[in-house]
Amino acid sequence: MAPRPPAPLFPAFPRLLHGGDYNPEQWLHQPEVIVADFRLMREAKCNAMSVGIFSWAMLEPEEGRFDFAWLDGIMSRLANQNMKAVLATPSGAKPAWLSLKYPEIRRMNDQGLRDPHRGRHNHCRTSPVYREKTAIINRMLAERYKDHPALLLWHVSNEYSGDPCHCPLCFEAFRQWLKQRYHGNLEELNQAWWSTFWSHRFSQWEEITAIDPSMHGMVLDWKRFITDQAVDFFRNEIEPLREFTPNVPVTINMMGTYMGLNYWKFAPYIDIASWDSYPAWHSEPDEFRVAADTAFNHDLNRSFKGQPFLLMESTPSQVNWQPICKPKRPGMHILSSLQAVAHGADSVQYFQWRKSRGSSEKFHGAVVDHDGSAENRVFQEVARLGSMLEKLAPVAGSDTPAEIAVVFDWENAWAIDGHQGFQNREKHYGDEVRAHYRELWRRNLAADVVDADADFSRYKLVIAPMLHMVRTGADRRLADYVRQGGILLLSFLSGMVNENDLCWLGGFPGGELAAVAGLRVTETDAFYPDQRQTVHAVNGNILGLRGEYDVQHYADLIQLKGAEAVMAYGQEFYANTPAVTVHAFGKGACYYLGARVKEPFLTDFYTGLVKRHSLRSAVQGQIPAGVSAQLRRAGNRTFLFLMNFTTEARAVTLPVGQTCRDLLEDRDISGTVKLPAYGVRVLAGAAG
Ligand code: GLA
Ligand code: ZN
Repeated sequence: MAPRPPAPLFPAFPRLLHGGDYNPEQWLHQPEVIVADFRLMREAKCNAMSVGIFSWAMLEPEEGRFDFAWLDGIMSRLANQNMKAVLATPSGAKPAWLSLKYPEIRRMNDQGLRDPHRGRHNHCRTSPVYREKTAIINRMLAERYKDHPALLLWHVSNEYSGDPCHCPLCFEAFRQWLKQRYHGNLEELNQAWWSTFWSHRFSQWEEITAIDPSMHGMVLDWKRFITDQAVDFFRNEIEPLREFTPNVPVTINMMGTYMGLNYWKFAPYIDIASWDSYPAWHSEPDEFRVAADTAFNHDLNRSFKGQPFLLMESTPSQVNWQPICKPKRPGMHILSSLQAVAHGADSVQYFQWRKSRGSSEKFHGAVVDHDGSAENRVFQEVARLGSMLEKLAPVAGSDTPAEIAVVFDWENAWAIDGHQGFQNREKHYGDEVRAHYRELWRRNLAADVVDADADFSRYKLVIAPMLHMVRTGADRRLADYVRQGGILLLSFLSGMVNENDLCWLGGFPGGELAAVAGLRVTETDAFYPDQRQTVHAVNGNILGLRGEYDVQHYADLIQLKGAEAVMAYGQEFYANTPAVTVHAFGKGACYYLGARVKEPFLTDFYTGLVKRHSLRSAVQGQIPAGVSAQLRRAGNRTFLFLMNFTTEARAVTLPVGQTCRDLLEDRDISGTVKLPAYGVRVLAGAAG
């Protein structure tokens, strides 16, 4: 990819955002707290606060009676302090009067019972009343603040949920959605859902009144419908925002690989991607897995728009909902925050600015604790990070070049989760994808995270583990990609069903993938925990693999149709048959990993793959284990982030003669770069 000039997300505010969820409406009766907040924000070098997220009951205390005075005050304070507002629409939590007067806005479970008024994120996405009421309050906000100097970005609702609503309105909308998808032709639907099975055929649309988990095609369409309905709800929310503030971008705060909504469907309609990151740091003997899995989510969010994203929420220390809520150790807050920036975030935002005094999140980490003090360790680290982010302003808008794509596909995940067969206990699609990603992370190989609808042509390597669902057309696109020189990696369970969750006929993997992989999968074996299967390297294999490894959970039995074996099975009636293969196809190649193989197999496999296909990492030379190197680029300028995720000092040696600028220490540097425990360095101009 050619370098592109830096494109700041906010051209008039080209810096990294620092701030977070701010709920002054909880403290209006104690104005001195708000005065203190703004003093502390200055000290912590905050420049953008998210306001109004859960303020509906304070903005519209009774139907049609609005009170914006308090928010006016906060917006002015922000503007006076040269800060920005990430202004929320309040639909994430509804006021009690709305639930009482219009029960239809409350979600219904699959037994026909409505949720009581409580909690949040639990409105019906279809209810015309809820849509109308959110449109009204959003319009009031947009009209009122459209020219406000503090307004930077719309934070639409909060963490949209994909929990189902089974109310009559939703089912009517579902039937309409189905009519569209199946061209008004019920027979087409019956075919797609294979509904003759168990006599599930429908003869009138009105018969579709409940979700039947035994009908995989139906479940899949229901999940698609829920996503589409959430997107539609979102589009309804932003209509007034677009009308009054066409130049103010909109975002939704997403939740990583949350399974309830296919976030890719939002990508075309949001201006900026953002997400809420809550890794369980210090939960394992070392930080490797957590750091790599977090990096995966950052890369996913950068990939949604192919541009910098925002870290919209993170905790300055601990959360309140993990089984064990551990405070971040000294240094981890700065490290984990700059990790997000290294992967393309143009912000470090928190949940939450100040701990609430009561209710369910009163012990959730915050910048300001119940002590109200700037003296405590957490506040001090946040303030130190604030100064660092100011020094890193030139990074804003820079991109992240990647020649590898990892496929994580929501519909595929739904299909794997929903099917019965082979292995019903240990499916782990997400973990399988992340296991591959971790091998890239440990080698400092930058990657995008895409779905199976992506344009693969710009990548050198596409890694698509467990691509069980191959939607019609995706097989052709993958075939074209390999034909033109791409390297494709597939694994067990691949290419078994199409977009309707109907099995591909004529052998697996289906469609053109059989020719690409050069093999047929004839059976899939599965294992009880104490059963043993192994794979061993085939002599002279092209990846230079040696030795033997243990298999778990899955093993595809493979018949070669042009591919060559890299590894073979060790036991059972299929001993010595191929387990891992490679097939030269067109100008490219396809690898097939027939089994889930225990560590250190993937590590050794990727060592061979990286060497064979000359995949390049962000930096030349040796990076010590536990240190992550990520590159951002603006035109010809590069920013190299070196991050030490270990509790020991590490050193990285720059290539001889190379001098670069240490942005955090503001000095030139060459030779050996030292990284203390959890230390981070950001080097400008250090192209690897
Ligand atoms: C989510 C929500 C926040 C808060 C945090 C707590 O991300 O958006 O409102 O509840 O979780 O971790
Ligand atoms: Zn509903």
